Amino acid sequence: MSTGAAPVRQLDASSVGELRQAAEKIFTEFGTSATSPELLARVAEFADALSEPIRHQLRPVDTDDGLFVLRGLEVDDTEIGPTPASWATAGDSAAVYDIVLLLLATVMGNPIAWEGQQDGRFVHNIVPAPGHETKQTGASSTVLLSPHTEDAFHPGRAHLLMLGCMRNHDNIATTAASVRNVSLSEADTALLTRPLLPILPDDAYTEAQGFDGRPPAVPTLFHAKDGLTLRFDPAYTPVEDASPAHQAAYQRLEAELARVSGAVSLSPGEVLIVDNDLVVHGRVPFQARYDGTDRWLKRASIRVPARRTRPLAEEDEHGYGQAAIEAHAA
Ligand SMILES: [Fe+2]
Repeated sequence: MSTGAAPVRQLDASSVGELRQAAEKIFTEFGTSATSPELLARVAEFADALSEPIRHQLRPVDTDDGLFVLRGLEVDDTEIGPTPASWATAGDSAAVYDIVLLLLATVMGNPIAWEGQQDGRFVHNIVPAPGHETKQTGASSTVLLSPHTEDAFHPGRAHLLMLGCMRNHDNIATTAASVRNVSLSEADTALLTRPLLPILPDDAYTEAQGFDGRPPAVPTLFHAKDGLTLRFDPAYTPVEDASPAHQAAYQRLEAELARVSGAVSLSPGEVLIVDNDLVVHGRVPFQARYDGTDRWLKRASIRVPARRTRPLAEEDEHGYGQAAIEAHAA
């Protein structure tokens, strides 16, 4: 529906048919979208065979906005069934779309999962859950989910994030702000590229929150070859521990990200792809109904092998004992 200024890439009808057929074949063979090495191998096989028009639409993010919306997939509101009451009970709800997302993710890179999140599944269900209304996780609703880098606490975090919309009757917007559009002084940029503050694991990772080890201090900004990248999650960063000058710089970055932030309200079938090194994303507050008609997104996380958009020092971080599982061995 309203994608604001986000670049749109349109899949043609035959590409859509191709994706749907591949996903249905895989689903028929396995009877589930719960990922096993066998299912992931089959996804890789089918992804390899996808045609050029699909690959073209899934070329890397290529604008300073750091995102695009893929349009064309069809979602039948009746066929997908009610919005699950929580990720934990989602199971194989609309499982064919899990596999569609895995196919798309595999064309763009290497899908990842986390043992400690959503039972190690490679595609997560993002639905509001009772009791989580005010948390800073995807299960929240009544609070603004403040702009953040996905899995910012971890060096194995995704390079790309894929959000596929199953249902969004109330046009609840995802927010996105690119570091390439902010304007910061040289002094602020210099300060924020120094590794001075840790980013702690978010509430989706209870095990990591109990990790016994010193949180590594990490830079907020990084000068990559083609421009700035960022690693930003204010809700889990003890900014108050920083010097007043650093705090002020951090707050100016936060204000700039708010200034350049755009809203993308996804319609069923639309898939938002954001570059997790350029863009922080969030969600506006909303009132959940918990009656099976709530907003429902599916999320895939992707690593892009050999990308150089982050400091090399990240590789030495402990990641709070969490490990990302890659779909395909490097
Ligand atoms: Fe997120």
